[in-house]
Amino acid sequence: MADRALITMEDLEAAVRANAALEAAGFRTTMVSALDDFRASLRRTDPDLLLLTGGLREPGLARTLLEIVGPRLAILGLVESTDADPAALAQRLGLSGVLVKPVPADEVVAHGRRLIERKKLQSRTGILGEHPGIQEVLAKIGQMAPVSSTVLIQGESGTGKELAAKAIHDLSPRRAKPFIAVNCAAIPETLLESELFGHEKGSFTGAAERRLGMFELADGGTIFLDEIGEMAPATQVKVLRVLEEREFFRVGGAAPIKVDVRVIAATNRPLKAAMEAGQVRPDLYYRLNVLSIYLPPLRERRSDIPLLVRRFIQDLAKQHDRPFRGMTAEAMQLLMDAPWPGNVRQLRNLIESMVVLAPAGEIRPADIPREIRDSMMRNLPVLVPGVTREVSGQELQYIVQTLLDLRLQIEDLRRRLDEMPQRVEVIDMGRRAVATGDGGEVIVGHVGGVGAGARPVEVAPMYEAQPARAPEAVVYEAGMKMADVEKAAIVAALNATRGNRRKAAESLGIGERTLYRKLKEYQLDGEPSPRT
Ligand SMILES: Nc1ncnc2c1ncn2[C@@H]1O[C@H](COP(=O)(O)OP(=O)(O)OP(=O)(O)O)[C@@H](O)[C@H]1O
Ligand SMILES: [Mg+2]
Repeated sequence: MADRALITMEDLEAAVRANAALEAAGFRTTMVSALDDFRASLRRTDPDLLLLTGGLREPGLARTLLEIVGPRLAILGLVESTDADPAALAQRLGLSGVLVKPVPADEVVAHGRRLIERKKLQSRTGILGEHPGIQEVLAKIGQMAPVSSTVLIQGESGTGKELAAKAIHDLSPRRAKPFIAVNCAAIPETLLESELFGHEKGSFTGAAERRLGMFELADGGTIFLDEIGEMAPATQVKVLRVLEEREFFRVGGAAPIKVDVRVIAATNRPLKAAMEAGQVRPDLYYRLNVLSIYLPPLRERRSDIPLLVRRFIQDLAKQHDRPFRGMTAEAMQLLMDAPWPGNVRQLRNLIESMVVLAPAGEIRPADIPREIRDSMMRNLPVLVPGVTREVSGQELQYIVQTLLDLRLQIEDLRRRLDEMPQRVEVIDMGRRAVATGDGGEVIVGHVGGVGAGARPVEVAPMYEAQPARAPEAVVYEAGMKMADVEKAAIVAALNATRGNRRKAAESLGIGERTLYRKLKEYQLDGEPSPRT
């Protein structure tokens, strides 16, 4: 079936030329007038390629793309030659590729085709990533799938080795036959041989029946030998024999058994090092290392984090039936800076926990678990710009903690402003006066005439703007519940600290996040004033 392309007409000339070239190349094309009606067109035409001819800096575009991007859609953006940093723009919008104008129409077609192929491969394999390291992996998988040669996959834990092995199988002519994964490290040495090759009845104590091994079960298909470096030397010899002769003996068996099995092996520590340390036989190493794939750790391809995060949020929000739009830029930045020792698996698990636990809507920095933020601290360089001496770990921890707290406070402030859009209006920044309104709210107005149509800015109650009060006693009265006492204590602490939540939390001896949670719980969050 012909590939379908949807072309926006932001740049009419480029759109018309690309449309003609894509049609001539066999695409079924549709042009849409503006970004606002392309959502409906996307649903109607279900294209393989979306070509954005302009308007890439339109404020609403990122959100629209976020909502519509499906796993199969390739998005190609055309940017102006004056546009600074097209790569960063592409990353922010989750584009599959960008080309700088003026660009010949046939180049748009060729690039579009490549992106579609890549997307198809990604959606068939589930391997996401635009980083060159991952593109190389995908290209190799495409090349290695049709043949039956042994493949060695190396990469740290959680980088997607099993995903890649399964992809090779699924794209190979063996796909209708079994894919059998064996974790060589998880099976005791004494049992591994019989697991792999099977055993004859009575071949050892407990072998009451003849049993087929994984190699026999995988006949015609693929066997995935995970953590091959952990295999005992005696078993290594037998695996080597299968690789060379395509035959083996069941434990206790006398007749050789022939199988047609493709072997994919994986290891999360470099196999060469294991060979050099004498743990892996050199002949096995060289026999396994015919075709090899290396999966880069996530910290070496951080530019893929936004894309992975977006996709995981989409998938997991759907899976858990929790409405999530995405993640704030601040939260995304935190994730981009984290060290990710557990790689993509850790990232996916984290997103799952946040989708389940965070208040629905958008994931914010405060929703990111403390251990991830703490791990960032350990990851920071110990030289602070502008400070000539080395900073001690403790000082650094303090600095970073303070910055993170500041970030949380800004985030909270922003959220409060977001929640009352109709009450806030930006006015010109002349001389300003601050006055307190009837309800205790702060009114920031403009002295000496307000610009046409402008209203004074009304900001919701901010404790900071209220005079400090002497600490008040929290009185217990008969009938009060623990929660009432706690609520009263929080109100008193906030009043005493003029609404400074950090200080209030400190004086109450609880964490700031706990305080935030309690404010929410007792609905003190958006109340006019805790003094009432
Ligand atoms: N490039 C990727 N795109 C999408 N998901 C990925 C990617 N890489 C890994 N994952 C996901 O991360 C998780 C871990 O992947 P996988 O089990 O393949 O890692 P692994 O390298 O075999 O890890 P280990 O060495 O611990 O066995 C899986 O949920 C997988 O789907
Ligand atoms: Mg694995």
